[in-house]
Amino acid sequence: MLLELSGICKNYGSGQAAVAALKNVNLSVAEGEYIAIMGPSGSGKTTLMNIIGCLDRCDEGTYMLDGIDISAMDENRLSDVRLNKIGFVFQTFQLLPGDTARDNVALPLIYAGVKKAEREKMAEEALGKVGLEERTGFYPNQLSGGQKQRVAIARAMINHPRILLADEPTGALDQASGRQVMELFETLNREGTTIIMITHDASVAKNAKRICYIVDGVLSEKGTGENDEE
Ligand SMILES: Nc1ncnc2c1ncn2[C@@H]1O[C@H](COP(=O)(O)OP(=O)(O)OP(=O)(O)O)[C@@H](O)[C@H]1O
Ligand SMILES: [Mg+2]
Repeated sequence: MLLELSGICKNYGSGQAAVAALKNVNLSVAEGEYIAIMGPSGSGKTTLMNIIGCLDRCDEGTYMLDGIDISAMDENRLSDVRLNKIGFVFQTFQLLPGDTARDNVALPLIYAGVKKAEREKMAEEALGKVGLEERTGFYPNQLSGGQKQRVAIARAMINHPRILLADEPTGALDQASGRQVMELFETLNREGTTIIMITHDASVAKNAKRICYIVDGVLSEKGTGENDEE
């Protein structure tokens, strides 16, 4: 298994204000899977994504990523794992407003120690792959929502991570742009990237090959996605 979460619990706050955001979550994801995690607002989707993405730690349970026990890692090693193994895509794109599309995409390469000329070449190639070769010098506020998300996807994939983690990637997009993003995910998955996508939208979740549901911090699995006719 590429990813194996067992008995994961996550609590926020304490006393009266305590929230059990994840309750004994078990999830195994094999290399090459494309999985959607669905659930209503407040059910624990982002909390789970933060743990899977090594942005936060669980209170109980174990998380094995690519054979490595994440629970035992210090902050430095966690950021290495994030840089090398995981690409992130967010609902609100999270691009740097003062950087061009090219510089946004090249950013992870700075941390990876790639030289400037090489970074720019790689970023331009990555932008070509998402259909934005004509927009490399544009700033985020000169791009449409769908274009911004494609820049974010190019950035997420620039280090060739094995896992793409997306939290409501189409949540801020119109239908046509959302479809383009889903087509890109399809291509990336076909090329071997494991995708974990969080969404509350059933029509978006249908793009995945497997669907899990989280309700009030409890994760469960029903159906097999593409074969469901609902
Ligand atoms: N930093 C925090 N401190 C306290 N409680 C939190 C914190 N973050 C999340 N929670 C609580 O944990 C629960 C799960 O939150 P989470 O953000 O994971 O939900 P979600 O499924 O992503 O919701 P949405 O669809 O609205 O994004 C909620 O009840 C929320 O109030
Ligand atoms: Mg959320």
